[in-house]
Amino acid sequence: QLNVYRTVADMSRVTDALRSVGRTVALVPTMGALHAGHRELLRRAKRLPNTVVAASIFVNPLQFGEGEDFEAYPRPLERDLEVLDDAGVELAFTPSAADLYPQDRAVSISPGPLGDELEGAARPGHFAGVLTVVAKLFNIVGPHYAFFGEKDYQQLVLIRRMARELNFRTRVVGVPTVRERDGLALSSRNVYLSAEQREQAVVLSAALTAGAHLGARGDEAVMDAARSTLRARPEVEVDYLELRGTELEPAPVDGEARLLIAARVGNTRLIDNVPVLLG
Ligand code: PAJ
Repeated sequence: QLNVYRTVADMSRVTDALRSVGRTVALVPTMGALHAGHRELLRRAKRLPNTVVAASIFVNPLQFGEGEDFEAYPRPLERDLEVLDDAGVELAFTPSAADLYPQDRAVSISPGPLGDELEGAARPGHFAGVLTVVAKLFNIVGPHYAFFGEKDYQQLVLIRRMARELNFRTRVVGVPTVRERDGLALSSRNVYLSAEQREQAVVLSAALTAGAHLGARGDEAVMDAARSTLRARPEVEVDYLELRGTELEPAPVDGEARLLIAARVGNTRLIDNVPVLLG
């Protein structure tokens, strides 16, 4: 049975009580417009024993830049609450911006240099906004576990680092990307795509897969395969295609790595990434 809490005070009171009677608390932070990717995070959280699963729905203004889609971002709240209920989630946290952020807010969490690379280069301040809201959610809910998708790989890496470097008690759990049958990574922003753009968008995952398959032949083969796949769809404007280490450091010569892409299809910016085994 889903219970919905709209204020910081109510949410922390309930999660404090649950922790004090020995329940494990798992948190799945979201911005709503829930899809099968979010449902997979909820399903993983539900697998923990003796655990109450909480999901937050909050379109965080701090992580949207000037001219980004904060206003247009889909907010189908009633349907989202049904999704949470169907998934067996017990607690939904749907705070208002006014409750979460004081008028004169001034403090935020700095992601360090990685916050200015890849997604951060195109979206100044984005990861400071993400880390700040996630830190607040961790402090409000006090979850033992929090689940994040590999879909937003740089976000996952930065949240892990924040939890480690700032000694949060929450264990950060990463969940592999859920995809459409043709490979397109599920995203709340896919609803912005026209039918034609939806067809073009598959080139992102196709390029990553083509690259990842050539991992044994080394980094140049990986990048060549991905680039040549992208050339077949010149309508898709690539922002970056990069091979990095698993913590987003420069790529190793061999071993585990990550291939990441961002591209624009019409006005919609899409991101994706895959693991690559080099050498
Ligand atoms: P949102 O985009 O709603 O995503 C919520 C969580 O779902 C994130 O951890 C994201 O990586 C995960 N997710 C999205 N699509 C996925 C897919 N196809 N497969 C697996 N997981 C997927 O990410 C955010 O919200 C916000 O930045 C947030 C962390 C809530 C902070 O505001």
